[in-house]
Amino acid sequence: MNHFLLSTLTVGLLLLLFAVGDSYASEREKTSAMRLGRMKAMSCAGCHGMDGKGIERNGKWVAPAYSESAILRDDPEKLALIILKGIRKESEHYSGAMGGMETVYDDRSLAAVMTWVRNQYGGQDDHITADQVAEWRKKFSDHQGPVALGEITE
Ligand code: HEC
Repeated sequence: MNHFLLSTLTVGLLLLLFAVGDSYASEREKTSAMRLGRMKAMSCAGCHGMDGKGIERNGKWVAPAYSESAILRDDPEKLALIILKGIRKESEHYSGAMGGMETVYDDRSLAAVMTWVRNQYGGQDDHITADQVAEWRKKFSDHQGPVALGEITE
């Protein structure tokens, strides 16, 4: 084998190894985010239920099932916005109201909760990062009070 071919092959093999190593690392990071998110989403379960199917109490819903939410399937910044700021109570349909949780979660925990809830119930397979959450926190820092759903849905 000539020298040129050999070094080309070596470089190619190294690149392949790096690529495989990289995807293992990001797979591991996502697995740990899913584990953390599942734990941190216990605060959501108080209203949305341990199984995410919502809670009905005395003939009224405390909060809806995640499966009813189009926001879980939408641009993740919408989910970030409603978790950070909460949802304005505009009807008597639910006995509960979702309060803002911007002081409850740090960026890493909120990213983990979002990753978990989107993957588990929103049919998504993405991995939301703490950096994305930090950006959204900054972007929405001027948003006063809970979100009216009409602001973010057509
Ligand atoms: C104190 C009760 C409560 C807690 C805690 C709570 N929620 Fe909610 N959530 C609600 C209620 C009530 C609604 C329905 C609001 C409405 O439609 O007016 C809702 C709606 C939602 C929706 C659907 C929005 C839509 O219309 O598509 C999502 C998604 C959601 N919550 C996610 C979460 C996540 C994730 C957490 C935890 C980080 C959480 N909620 C914590 C009460 C709660």
